[in-house]
Amino acid sequence: MHGKTVIVTGANSGIGKATALELARRGAHVVLASRNMAKAESARLDIMRATNNPAIECLSLDLASMRSVRHFVETFTKRFNQLHILINNAGIFSRHRALTSDGFELHFGVMYLGHFLLTRLLTPHLRRGAPARVVNVSAWGHHFGALDFDNLRAEKSFAPLSAYVQAKLAQVIFTQSFAQRMHGTGVTAYSLHPGMINTNLGQDLPNALRVVAGRALATPYQGASTSVYLATAPQIEQYSGGYFSYRTFLRSYTKTPTKTSQLTRDVALAQKLWHISEHVCREDTWVH
Ligand SMILES: NC(=O)c1ccc[n+]([C@@H]2O[C@H](COP(=O)([O-])OP(=O)(O)OC[C@H]3O[C@@H](n4cnc5c(N)ncnc54)[C@H](OP(=O)(O)O)[C@@H]3O)[C@@H](O)[C@H]2O)c1
Repeated sequence: MHGKTVIVTGANSGIGKATALELARRGAHVVLASRNMAKAESARLDIMRATNNPAIECLSLDLASMRSVRHFVETFTKRFNQLHILINNAGIFSRHRALTSDGFELHFGVMYLGHFLLTRLLTPHLRRGAPARVVNVSAWGHHFGALDFDNLRAEKSFAPLSAYVQAKLAQVIFTQSFAQRMHGTGVTAYSLHPGMINTNLGQDLPNALRVVAGRALATPYQGASTSVYLATAPQIEQYSGGYFSYRTFLRSYTKTPTKTSQLTRDVALAQKLWHISEHVCREDTWVH
């Protein structure tokens, strides 16, 4: 990974931090994209100490704000002309209805729309860095997701798990659409389920469930293994658009794409998601 520039979102804890650490160990220049700069700086020092790689830096990114996403890309652009690997990892699970600064339901806004905008704004950098890869950390739960375009601001209803899996489904569909649009450019994209991993993500779950789940879960390092595989494995370009899965109980990941939900095969749904996303991100200078 020497000479490669990598961005990892949500890199200050859990799977994102473990992913950043492993890519740093392999010699990449790693940008930790984080909304909490104190936690990011602490992660940066941990990663530098563990890997002896000084090329680790923090840049501020709050995916719940499109202004912050744009500002992140402006700052990144001043420092870097090319990007080789973008790992859209940041995620949340909240039991409470909340909105992003732009008024979208928080799960959808952070995990899907924020990453959609980030990826689209960084597409020129990825094209200049080709061969380049985008890795979207989704979840097996996307199988239970549906897209309700009339409820993107949770104006009709809010159910935490439905909101979470809707965002994860949108990430899988976006990966497929983006991969198709990038065909022939040297930029490829993959989505994945990282496994059931012991991280901060479940902190909003009831205590009893957290204790029981905690015993069965895999480590953040194991949770990072599928992302690291998709970021680094040679000759996986033929699988661009595919979804990969970490099998928690086997402690291993699939090396070829695995099955996605029925809705991911709905071409009209994918087109609608793409057009609505472009519209709400209000970007008239997309580079294809
Ligand atoms: N753990 C699992 O079993 C599991 C299963 C399936 C999928 N996943 C997915 O794996 C990914 C990583 O999650 P994790 O388990 O490692 O959880 P985690 O330890 O809670 O890490 C989530 C990261 O996302 C960041 N984040 C949250 N909201 C953000 C925002 N608005 N802007 C920027 N960063 C934000 C968090 O930053 P702060 O520290 O500032 O909160 C944190 O660094 C997520 O996409 C999650 O949905 C996890």
